[in-house]
Amino acid sequence: MAARETIEDFLRLSGNRTLLRISTAGSVDDGKSTLIGRLLHDSKNIFEDTLAAVRKSSRTFSPEGGEIDLALLTDGLKAEREQKITIDVAYRYFSTPHRNFILADTPGHVQYTRNMATGASTADAAILLIDASRGVLTQTRRHAFIVTLLGIRHVIVAVNKMDMVGYDRKVFEDIRKEFSDFSAKLGVSDLHFIPISALKGDNVVERSRFMDWYQGESVLQYLENLYVGGDRNLIDLRFPVQLVIRPNQHFRGFSGQIASGVIRKGDEILVLPSMKRSRIRTITTFDGELEEAFSPMSVTLTLEDEIDISRGDMLVHPNNVPRVNTTLEAMLVWMSEVPLDLRKTYLLRQTSRDGKVRIQDLRYRVDVDSLHREDSDTLRVNEIGRVVLQNNQPLFFDPYDRNRNTGCFVLIDALDHSTVGAGMILDRPTIDTLRKEPVKEQEIARLRNIRKETGQVTRADRETMLGKKAVCFWMTGLSGSGKSTISAALEKKMFDSGDLVYRLDGDNVRFGLNQDLGFSDADRRENIRRVAEVARLLNQAGVTVVTSFISPFRDDRDMAREIIGADAFIEVFVDAPLEVCESRDSKGLYRKARAGEISEFTGISSPYELPETPAVVVDTQRLAVMECVDLILEALPDRSTDQE
Ligand code: ADX
Repeated sequence: MAARETIEDFLRLSGNRTLLRISTAGSVDDGKSTLIGRLLHDSKNIFEDTLAAVRKSSRTFSPEGGEIDLALLTDGLKAEREQKITIDVAYRYFSTPHRNFILADTPGHVQYTRNMATGASTADAAILLIDASRGVLTQTRRHAFIVTLLGIRHVIVAVNKMDMVGYDRKVFEDIRKEFSDFSAKLGVSDLHFIPISALKGDNVVERSRFMDWYQGESVLQYLENLYVGGDRNLIDLRFPVQLVIRPNQHFRGFSGQIASGVIRKGDEILVLPSMKRSRIRTITTFDGELEEAFSPMSVTLTLEDEIDISRGDMLVHPNNVPRVNTTLEAMLVWMSEVPLDLRKTYLLRQTSRDGKVRIQDLRYRVDVDSLHREDSDTLRVNEIGRVVLQNNQPLFFDPYDRNRNTGCFVLIDALDHSTVGAGMILDRPTIDTLRKEPVKEQEIARLRNIRKETGQVTRADRETMLGKKAVCFWMTGLSGSGKSTISAALEKKMFDSGDLVYRLDGDNVRFGLNQDLGFSDADRRENIRRVAEVARLLNQAGVTVVTSFISPFRDDRDMAREIIGADAFIEVFVDAPLEVCESRDSKGLYRKARAGEISEFTGISSPYELPETPAVVVDTQRLAVMECVDLILEALPDRSTDQE
């Protein structure tokens, strides 16, 4: 059959079958080309169409140039095609009666991390090849690392050349064991092993006649049946505005591709960064008006109200907002021959937003072979590192493992406009990204054009007036450990003895200040950051604060200590074993968590990291409430104000 010109043709002609994007990785000589050849040949596909390797080394992107449109394939890293960069990725298309496949084939050489990153960035599944006669190699580990870094949830390990080891089950099982042990460290969510011989055709398309001990599916059968629908994020609505359409003064539409989630007519939406609200009036596509649309559809929206919205803004549901921040932490794959320069400003593109960005910190470089972290002050081509970025304007993003569209970005050289890096945003910013340091304040001042205004009344003035220094009791512990009860009693006792004291409670702040936050690691961290900032302000106003937050992460509590100031911060561990908290189950939440009705519940489905050096530990299983309060008060430092 004749080769087709575009992917659109391919998709149109092959009907409504579901599409699976696959990436392949293997070391040289592992038999990758043979496997691909087999898949294409034996599946008697209709469009064996290589579209040629995408060698665009010196070619620049020309929208009218009649080039094959690769956007469909590389939308995650779309900017790359508009830039000058050499990538060696060949896309191949084939289909079976069940499914369409797009397969990104990247060369297996050691130095080709960036090709893999490009080819695999939108893949649903990855086939990793291991040569049975050679076993798990350094490069296998490297590929596995990149595959997980790119968030590919389904990994098929094809143990190839089984014919060369006499179809020996033990060889297969040993490899399976070794690789499973390694990948446990990486956290691959779905790992599947298939013994094959690409050369002989065993278990590639047809089941093998020589490996009765393997009862599973062939590679193609497995790919045909692999369910990936659930991988799509249909929960968090993220609509990055790409274009504002204004044909006349009566129509103002906002066009773009839904990055994730579902949008319906009448939905209330929030516009970032303006925080304005409106409702969806119409949803239009090429084929007419719709009641609802979902990712990855491209639509034009109109709203009930006239709101100023421009390219780069994002529409979301008001109760489900992405992270909005100028700093973020990410894993960065360096793609340029010119190494990363920490002093330089790069251009950043994330969804439809552009920015100017500096790499504030290269936390470490990953040795992809050993997974060890190494100190470094640069990244060279194909190296991967963890970085802290500071952008000149807020970005709207989600962690990459939750949202591959809003969680990725590319870095572009400001002078020659080549793509130099691709990044995957991490879930938890570390303390460094939010650290209160004089340097950081200067930096914030510079980037946001703000400066600190000092008043005429200081914290010391207020403390002198009140006769006491303000402190912050930070209660941490499991839900149901007794934090709120003890906090309330502590507040009352202090108040009665003449202290100006105020309680900040985990449940309470989520009704107001933090109503936009949930219980993901990142949201909890933001919860703690905001509360710590409020506690600091109250302390500055002379008010002593009692907080009761689970605050399950050590890093986050350390951040709170840093924001509030170590002198004023008194960490109180409200200690009760999980079983006890669960048996109390005062709010009925443990039961719900066990029933799977609440996710990420601390102690059940989300961790609690014990405090290492709390100032006080109160054992609520043994002590009465007032005994705990008295113990806590014993930890109060001298709070007298110097009256000279
Ligand atoms: S924290 O982890 O971010 O510090 P916080 O103390 O503010 O948590 O809120 C915890 C309270 O929220 C709990 O006491 C409980 O009432 C409620 N809650 C609802 N869902 C969860 C959850 N998944 N994990 C923990 N607490 C939850």
